[in-house]
Amino acid sequence: MNHTSPYFLGIDVSTTATKALLMDATGQVAGTAATEYPFETPRPLWSEQHPRLWWEGTQQSIRAVLAQTSVSPAQIGGVGLTGQMHGLVLLDENGEVLRPAILWNDQRTQAQCDAIHARLGRERFIQITGNVALTGFTAPKILWVKENEPDVYAKAAHILLPKDYVRYKLTGAFGMDKADGAGTVLMDLRARNWSGEVLSALDIPPAWMPPLYEGPQITGRVTPEAAAATGLQAGTPVMAGGGDQAAQAVGVGAVTEGIVALTLGTSGVVFATANGAFIEPEGRLHAFCHSVPGKWHLMGVMLSAAGSLRWYRDTFAPGIGFDDLLAPAANIPAGSDGLLFLPYLTGERTPHPDPLARGAFVGLTVRHTLPHLTRAVLEGVAFGLRDSFALMKSSGLGAIHQVRVSGGGAKSPLWRQILADVFGCELVTVNTTEGAAYGAALLAAVGAGQYPSVEAACEAAIRLTGSTTPQPEQVNAYEQAYRLYQGLYPALKPTFHA
Ligand code: XUL
Repeated sequence: MNHTSPYFLGIDVSTTATKALLMDATGQVAGTAATEYPFETPRPLWSEQHPRLWWEGTQQSIRAVLAQTSVSPAQIGGVGLTGQMHGLVLLDENGEVLRPAILWNDQRTQAQCDAIHARLGRERFIQITGNVALTGFTAPKILWVKENEPDVYAKAAHILLPKDYVRYKLTGAFGMDKADGAGTVLMDLRARNWSGEVLSALDIPPAWMPPLYEGPQITGRVTPEAAAATGLQAGTPVMAGGGDQAAQAVGVGAVTEGIVALTLGTSGVVFATANGAFIEPEGRLHAFCHSVPGKWHLMGVMLSAAGSLRWYRDTFAPGIGFDDLLAPAANIPAGSDGLLFLPYLTGERTPHPDPLARGAFVGLTVRHTLPHLTRAVLEGVAFGLRDSFALMKSSGLGAIHQVRVSGGGAKSPLWRQILADVFGCELVTVNTTEGAAYGAALLAAVGAGQYPSVEAACEAAIRLTGSTTPQPEQVNAYEQAYRLYQGLYPALKPTFHA
């Protein structure tokens, strides 16, 4: 490394693109570049992507961000990785990909989830891993391959998550961070390590699992081949990083107890840091390790948050910009004159882990207009997120004193106001808006010794930029509407399942 201040690179291997973000030593973003790709749905409920796309996207995005910023590769002090969680990447003994990755939003594995609970006992499984087995998680996907593709399974030698395949291509080393690792539901959550009991009950050879690291730890160095492919300097350290939700939380500074990160992306996430391995007794919240060393987190995930609004716009008002779509909804009263929207367009996880849950508008009358429907969508998503918020509050975790909101949907002042009114608490925004890639770059900076801790890095780089406070009358109106909303899923579930 030369003597000028270092830069840090965050790579986010998401479902839609691989993004590279360069950050300077003070936490300023120097540049970003993204390479988009599709994912396949070869059958109903299936969702797959070939790992090749991630590695190609990584090479292209790193080259693009280096060219755009004119930062010399020798100035890069570390690379932090983040990405879509839970996806199953199976490699053979030579490190070759055996089949397309089965992604986090794949819903084919209900039978395997049931089998996992039967083998270990549901209670025991929750006690060890902190979670129930859900179709999105990694463990049931491994059982699915074993049952349905025995030839593939017979050749398996390594299990990785999406960003860890990019790590393998960059460094030649197998490794995984503990935040993402916990999302396989093969870890002992308290021990922050693989669970021998779970692996053995599921007949998964421990040798297939990579070493686990805390978020800022160095997992390997860029190889000469990877240097030639990406333009990075050989020997550059690659830090563990974190699954996208933990890295997103680092990126907005949700790294201490009491600060909740609320992310309004395609999915909606309510994320709270915990100093101990807190578990929601029925496993209704995800309990994973944080990418802050020695910390954990609780998380509620709504599968279609801003995704619901996108679907609604594309279906009912194609071609209209979001600002124009949302403006008239600001004049509709809180509660949308009795119209309710259920946001379960792609099934749901929290608080109803049900791949067969479905969306609905309920309470339509001839008096309702398009702006009523728009507002009902914003409110329905807010109600669904309040379900996670309420579980968080009742989980025994300490008091929540700040909610930091981020993600594409948080750009709308109207949606932020609805969320503040539905939650009945203040929401704040922060200066960092680049999400998980930014968090991964901060983790790399900590690993390189630029900051003494993740908390210190967040303290130095992240500041509050705005606040939305609840309006008492609206809070009361939403209290009533929320009670009605809560009754909808139990009432409609038999119809959804039929
Ligand atoms: C988290 C989850 C998603 C994916 C997609 O549990 O499934 O957030 O990580 O990015």
